[in-house]
Amino acid sequence: MNDLPHGDEELALLELARRVLPAGSFGNLAGDIVIREGRGARVWDVSGNEYVDFLLGSGPMFIGHCHPDVMAAVQAQIPRGTTFFANNEHGIRLAAEIVDAVPCAEKVRFVSSGTEADAYAMRVARAFRGRDKILKFEGGYHGMSDYSLMSLAPKRPGNFPQAVPDSPGIPRSVRDEMIIAPFNDAAMAVSLINEHHDEIGGVIVEPFQRLLPPKPGFLQALRDACTEHGIPLIFDEVVTGFRFAYGGAQAFFGVTPDLCTLGKIIGGGFPLAAIAGREDIMAQFDRGKVGDDRFLTQIGTLSGNPVAAVAGLATLEVLRRPGAYEKVFATGRELMAGISGMLAKAGLPAQVIGVPPLFDIVYASGDVENYRGMLRGDVEMQRRFNRRLRAAGIMKGESKFYVSLAHDAADVRHTLGAVGAAVEAEVAETRVPAQ
Ligand SMILES: Cc1ncc(COP(=O)(O)O)c(C=O)c1O
Repeated sequence: MNDLPHGDEELALLELARRVLPAGSFGNLAGDIVIREGRGARVWDVSGNEYVDFLLGSGPMFIGHCHPDVMAAVQAQIPRGTTFFANNEHGIRLAAEIVDAVPCAEKVRFVSSGTEADAYAMRVARAFRGRDKILKFEGGYHGMSDYSLMSLAPKRPGNFPQAVPDSPGIPRSVRDEMIIAPFNDAAMAVSLINEHHDEIGGVIVEPFQRLLPPKPGFLQALRDACTEHGIPLIFDEVVTGFRFAYGGAQAFFGVTPDLCTLGKIIGGGFPLAAIAGREDIMAQFDRGKVGDDRFLTQIGTLSGNPVAAVAGLATLEVLRRPGAYEKVFATGRELMAGISGMLAKAGLPAQVIGVPPLFDIVYASGDVENYRGMLRGDVEMQRRFNRRLRAAGIMKGESKFYVSLAHDAADVRHTLGAVGAAVEAEVAETRVPAQ
């Protein structure tokens, strides 16, 4: 299961990367490949190997790489200037499109990354409510800020609601500002909200946590408890926004938060993210509305960048076309069903979880409904599988298949063939030899 062969040019780049980058990488994927280009649902490495791409740049390339409409929009904008700091038409139009599409969005503030959007969403909730603590869910990913790195992926989970930091370098005091609850346990989350409501500035949740769908009633229970105490409920829709539906996970699951964060798809492959939500909460960003004392300063050099905004607008235009979501869901459904069938037939302790635009194999049997359930997964088997898929020309992240509008029948065929071969290899490797 060696990787596809790397030529001299790629090997030299990998060597240079090891010299100048910590761990030889940008920190995202392992530094064992250098991508040269992407088109549609395929990417190529520097050695010319071709891959069906389920990484999609970690999600932004939902309509595929180099979509001609996005390219045309970007190429028209670039000779007119690439950043201004001041308002620009395209950023304003993108904000208006978000307000039209996303149920909770009455006002929008742009930033450049999902990490920033989540950090500001928590801050604006705290400022609005005048309380310091944030309730988040164990295993929930909200970027890389000090607060978000509490109980994201603890190797030794603590006792709820105690936070466990996932990184050195975070002041001890931060852990006391976070309250951690188990995802999909509505009773526990509501009881923590009731118990701590007087200290809580906001509740932040991925409405679909990594690969885990919310159990029926879970999001509504959070909604009700937050409403009862006047606590802003934040949906992190950096992944799900415009992916699960045009209105995001809040439209898909039918529960409207007070604030949400968006990223990935809305920037069309460029750095752009946003905080969106209720007008009275977003007024914290408006000195004229809330006055000097309550005003929340928020500035970013590239916020609302016009190149990113035109790429985002062009992407959303493609997604509004009839049949776009139906096609992504049909592709994802076919892949999920095909992979599930092969795993079941082989009797491997593995299952497919997620929704058609975003799913993966979890290497554990039985119900998996929260982070601790995911920890039961066989990490070694996951690594072997992913390596086998890479060697068969499938590009994916460690724990996600992102499906795009560009994936076609040939991509599905190739992928199911590669998964079938990986299943067979796994069965052969784990078969107990006859005595
Ligand atoms: C749910 C969620 N929130 C926030 C982020 C952070 O976004 P970014 O990588 O743009 O900082 C991510 C990134 O994958 C994410 O998946």
